[in-house]
Amino acid sequence: MLEYRRYLIMTKKTSRIPGLHKLSPKERLQQVVEAAGLSEEVLRHLGNTGNLDSATADSMIENVIGTLNIPLGVATNLVIDGEEVLVPMATEESSVVAAVCNAARQCRSTGGFTTAMSGSLMIAQVQLTGVRNPEFARLQILEHKADIQAVCNETDPVLLKHGGGFRDLEVRILHGRTGPMVVTHLIVDTRDAMGANAVNSMAEAIAPLIAEWTGGKTYLRILSNLADRRLARARATWSLEDIGGADVRDGILSAFDFADIDPYRAATHNKGIMNGVSAVVLATGNDTRAVEAGAHAYAARSGQYGSLTQWEVDADGNLNGSIEMPLAVGLIGGATRSHPTARITLDIMGVETADQLAGIIAAVGLAQNFAALKALATTGIQKGHMALHAKNIAVMVGAKGDEIDNVAQALVSLGKVRMDIAEDILKSLRG
Ligand code: MEV
Repeated sequence: MLEYRRYLIMTKKTSRIPGLHKLSPKERLQQVVEAAGLSEEVLRHLGNTGNLDSATADSMIENVIGTLNIPLGVATNLVIDGEEVLVPMATEESSVVAAVCNAARQCRSTGGFTTAMSGSLMIAQVQLTGVRNPEFARLQILEHKADIQAVCNETDPVLLKHGGGFRDLEVRILHGRTGPMVVTHLIVDTRDAMGANAVNSMAEAIAPLIAEWTGGKTYLRILSNLADRRLARARATWSLEDIGGADVRDGILSAFDFADIDPYRAATHNKGIMNGVSAVVLATGNDTRAVEAGAHAYAARSGQYGSLTQWEVDADGNLNGSIEMPLAVGLIGGATRSHPTARITLDIMGVETADQLAGIIAAVGLAQNFAALKALATTGIQKGHMALHAKNIAVMVGAKGDEIDNVAQALVSLGKVRMDIAEDILKSLRG
C-alpha cells in the first residue's frame, strides 16, 4: 500500500478528481483519459456509447464516462407453457446461448417447458435491537398488523392500484453476538415490479413506529434477496430417444447426484444454471446480483449448499428435469424501463407479466443445466467451447472479416486453439 502511494506521488497520479460528478459524461471522460494518461483513441472509443445514449446512461448511475457493450444473443427452440418463445440473452461467455438452443430443441417433442410461480411476494426486514424482552416486543408488533398494513399501503398507492400491497406480517427473534434482535418481515405483493424500492420505502416508514411501540432501536430497513415467496418453477421431460439413450441419461443423473452431495461441485453446477438465468436477467435490465444472491441462498436452505435443479427418471425411463428458485424480476421500474434495449428484449419475448418473465428465466436455467450436464457426462465441454473460443483467439491475433472464420476453422481442425498457432495461420493466410 505504501509502495503504491509512493508510486502515485512519483507519477503524479491521483484518484481525487473534485467535482467530477458535476461534469457531463463527455467532460468526465476527457478528465479521466487525461488523468490515466490514455490516448485520443481511447477518448473516441469510449465516446461512442452505442445504443445507450450518454444522457440516459448518465441518468442511471453516477460518474458516467461511457457504456460497455456485451453481445446480445437470442435462444431459439423454446416452447414454454405451450408458447413458442424467442429469448434474448446478454452474456460475454461463448456456448451459453447455443446450449439453451440445443437443450430446448431436445425437449420439443415432449411439449417443452411448463412453468409456475409461487407468488409475487417480496419480504422487507426491519431490525429492532435494544429490547430486553424480545418475546413481549414480538407480540406488540404483531398486534399492530392493521396499522402496519395501512402505513405500508399509504406508502405506495400506485402498487395498491395495480392490485399489490401489504399482505402479511411475520416477526422473528434472533440471538446475535450483540444481543437479541426482533426482526419484522413485511410481506408485500409487488406484482409486476421487482419491488425493491416499494418494500424498502415501506420498511423505512414502519421502523419508527416499531421503535415507538417497543421502546427499542431500529437499525436496518431493507428487503431480503432471499425471495422465497417468489419462487419460479419450471419442468421438462427429455425422452431417451432425443437425448441419445440410457447412458447419457444416467450420466446426467449421476452428475446431479454429485452436485447434490458436494458443495464444490454444486457451486459449478449452479454457476452453469446462472449462466442462463443471469443472461436473461441482464438482457431485460433486471438486477442480476439480486437474483444471484437469492438463488445461492435458496440453494443453501437445508444447511448444505446443493443443486437448484432436480433430475429424475419417469415410468418410461425418460429424464425429468425441474428447477425451483427465487426470481425477483420486474417489468416496470429501474433499467427495465429506462434502458431502451431492455424494453426491446421484453417485446421480443412478448411477456406481459413479471411472472411470465420469471417462468421463462427458470426454463432457461433448467435448459442450461441440461446442456451442461449432458456435455460433461459425454464429450466434455471443451469440444463445444472450442469453435467459439477459436474465433475469440482469431480476433485477438488481429484477424479481420473472413480471416476470423478461416483462422478459427484451422485452429479447430488442428485441435490446438492457441494464440501462437493462430498468429502463424494468420501470417500464412496473408501470404
Ligand atoms: C461453465 O460456464 C459452466 C459449467 O461449468 C457448468 C457445469 O459444470 O455444470 C459447464
